[in-house]
Formats: sequence, C-alpha cells, structure tokens
Amino acid sequence: MPSEALREARRFEEEEEKKLEGSLRPNFHLSPRVGWMNDPNGFSYYKDRYHLFYQYHPYNTFWGPMHWGHAVSKDLLHWEYLPAAMAPDKEYDYAGCFSGSAITLENGKHLLVYTGVSKEKTEDGRECDVQTQCLAVGDGEEYEKYGENPVIDAGMLPKNSSRADFRDPHVYFEDGVYKLVAVNRAGDGYGSVLLFSSKDGFEWEFEKVLKHNDDGKFGVMWECPDYFSLNGKKVLFLSVQEMEAKDLEFTTGNGNICMIGSADKDDNFVSEFVQTIDYGYDFYGQQTLLAPDGRRLMIGWMQNWDNINYRAGDCKWYGQMSVPREIRIENNRLYQWPIREINSIRKNRIEYSDVSLCGKKTFEGIEGRSIDLELSIKPENEEELFQSFSINFAEDKEHHVLLKYIPNEGVVEFDRSQAGSRNGIVHSRKCKVYGKAGYLKLRIILDIYSAEVFINDGESAMTLTFYTDVKAKGISFEANGNVNLSIEKYEL
Ligand code: FRU
Repeated sequence: MPSEALREARRFEEEEEKKLEGSLRPNFHLSPRVGWMNDPNGFSYYKDRYHLFYQYHPYNTFWGPMHWGHAVSKDLLHWEYLPAAMAPDKEYDYAGCFSGSAITLENGKHLLVYTGVSKEKTEDGRECDVQTQCLAVGDGEEYEKYGENPVIDAGMLPKNSSRADFRDPHVYFEDGVYKLVAVNRAGDGYGSVLLFSSKDGFEWEFEKVLKHNDDGKFGVMWECPDYFSLNGKKVLFLSVQEMEAKDLEFTTGNGNICMIGSADKDDNFVSEFVQTIDYGYDFYGQQTLLAPDGRRLMIGWMQNWDNINYRAGDCKWYGQMSVPREIRIENNRLYQWPIREINSIRKNRIEYSDVSLCGKKTFEGIEGRSIDLELSIKPENEEELFQSFSINFAEDKEHHVLLKYIPNEGVVEFDRSQAGSRNGIVHSRKCKVYGKAGYLKLRIILDIYSAEVFINDGESAMTLTFYTDVKAKGISFEANGNVNLSIEKYEL
C-alpha cells in the first residue's frame, strides 16, 4: 500500500500534468512529468521494456526532497510516464530518496537500490546528512520498501569514512554474486568507490575500496559510479565535484570521467586511461545498462549543477535526459553514438554533397530545432588548409549557438554566449579533435532546447542546453578558407 506521501505526490503529478499540456517540451528526450528532474536512476530492462526512474521533485521546478519519478519505453525515445515510484516517507529516507539503480532478482522481482537520506545533529550543532543504502522491491509499477532498510550503513565502512557523503549505489550481477559500487568521502576528504557483495541482493557485505581519488587528482567528492566490462576492458564511470581544469581534457566544476583499465589477479581495478565522458556543459550522473541484444547503453542527466539557473523564462518543468547512447571502447578510448533506434524516427531527408564553401552560406531546407544533422568536412584543396569552419544554429537575427572547428589547433569549440542567456555561467567549451587536420565528421542532434554533438564517429561528444526562443531555428555555415562540405539532414 503506497504511503500518504507517495499518494499525495501521485495525485499532484496527475493533476499538474494537465496544466502543462501544450507547454513546449523536448520531442524525444525524457523530461520530468512535472516539476524538477536530475539524475537518471534504475536504468534497466525489465518485463520487456526499458525503465527509467529519475531524481524527482514534483512540487516545483527546483531541487527538493527527492522522490523517484518513473517512465517506461520500448525504444528509449517514446516514453510513457508511470506513477512516481518512491517518496521520502521513512525515518531513514525522510530527507530524500537519492540516486540508485535497479536489477532483476532471480525470483523475477525488480529490485531498486537507492540512498536513503536522513539528518543528524553534529557535535557543533550543525545539521548533517546521514546517507545509507536501501532497497525497494516491485513488479515494474508498485514498489515496496524493504522492511530491514537500511541494508548498508557507514558502520560497515573503513575508519573515518563519511556518514554524510555515502551514496549512489550501482548494483550488478557477476559470477553468481550481486555486487554494488557506491561512493563515499574518505577520511582525507576525497571520494572513494566502495565495492559490496551479496548472495541474495538483501544482505550486503563490504568488500573493499575499488578506487580512491588520490590527492584529489579528479575533483574532490565523487558521485554516481558505474562499473562494468566493455570490449575486454573494465570501465569505471564517475561524476565528479569540484574538478580542476587540465588542458582541454578536464574542465572546472561538476564533470564526468571515464576510467578505462583492467582487473588485476585480486580483482582490484587498475585504471590505465582517464578521459572526460562528455566535453559539453550539460551532462552528469550518467548510468548504463546492458540491453537484451548485448549493447551497453548510456544515458545522462542533460544538465549540470553549475548551470541550473539557466532555464527557459517561463520554465514549467526543469531537467531532461540525454539521448541514450551506444558506447564502446576502441583503442583505449570511449566512443559513443546515439542509439540506432533514432533512425526509425528520422524523416524528410535533405542532402547536399561536396559543396564548395567559402564565406557564409545557408542551404534551403537546412534549419530546425528538432533535427539530426550529419556533416562531413574536408579541405577543398588538399594543399591548402582552411583557417576555420563554423556552424550557427538556433539562429535568428540576434541569437545563435556557435560551433567552430579550427583545424590548425585541432579543436572544436562550442559557444552559447549569444543564445540569449543572462546568466554568468560558462558559455564556451573546447574539445580536442583527433585525426587528420581539416577532416572532420559531425553528427548534431537538436531537440528544442538541446544540442548533442558527436565528433568523428563518436570519438568525443559535447552536449549543451540553451533556451533560445524556439522560433530561432536558422542554421548557417561559414568557412574561413575553402571547405568542401557534405550535409545530410533529417527532421526528428
Ligand atoms: C548527483 C547527486 C547524487 C545524489 C542526487 C541527489 O547529481 O548529487 O549524488 O544522489 O544527485 O538528488
């Protein structure tokens, strides 16, 4: 029987959803049913459909006591909302049901593993979080919190582990054992990924520290871990707080990183390569799942804590998920590409092949705010490298978002400073491009308030949101020098 708090949240979302009818939303990216959304949670395939839960505050468009919103989909593009799955209604989670994951139990039930947040007074009188790991069991629609919650608390951890920063359990099944990774702030103040195991998914034991953020090399505290095998490598995904910039690889603030490595003979994770997952501004809290056909799919919160006050003027809902992406490891690098299901919603193809471009130009039919755009660029003459190539999109007389390629520097730059923002946030980001200078492939997915750019068949991705009036749908191209350009465009 759902608690009063959950029934209230469900009544509220059902009523308020009607008032949002007709308000502008992304076409195929999941946004909250009402109110506020952050991290994806419990991304899983259960009973023949994909389930995506999310950090949810239905009552307004700002973060508040976390509920779990719930949506299901057959193709990860058309979503159906289900009633909210959890509300913060227990002694151990009254301050929030924080991020977590899901797995199918051997008895066919769906198990949600999440962080319950409550509060305690510290010796100096401050109020502090107590974060513990908790369970809820369900059938894909109704979930009941486990009577023995919490199942993991800081009492099980190494000395000096934080009680306040201990969260985001990611559960998986390996060699007949349930395992989960969660993050904790260790005694030195930096994040650690901790590994736990369980025979049945209910009784958990602490195994070891899988990875520690030595000397704060990658930010300070970590969040939202995901640990899995992919193309013969072990991969650890993390969201990172208080990152320090390093070259073009890591940028300041809240970021995301991918560690690629292997497991040693004692099953410790040895990180060999570290890179950013998404080089744009708006990607955080990513989760992956293994699809029934063997693909590893990733989805992220298409926002960033640093940018949450940049929003549409008449914002009626806040937050959205990225397009789900197929990921792979190739030459010790993470590659990502929009799920192939997107091909089935592409329509009205327009193509321009091998066009010579020098100066600024628009092309008939190449415009829109919900489109899939594939571009291929090369020098018009082999011996003569152009200085730059740029695209403006979401363009009207006064606004645009700029994407610029500078072959000599091997860099792609995003700039949303002319997109109509009034916020003093980061408006420009750069990303290194590999491969031969002057040759570039781009795939750009636009969906009303967002752009996701995939560079050179997915060797890097850059994601951003922008809230330019949707009537600004122009696209123009500009070359400084001589560029040979091919364009393929679809409406989505
Ligand atoms: C990451 C995060 C998680 C936490 C959740 C709370 O975005 O801070 O660590 O579980 O959001 O909403």
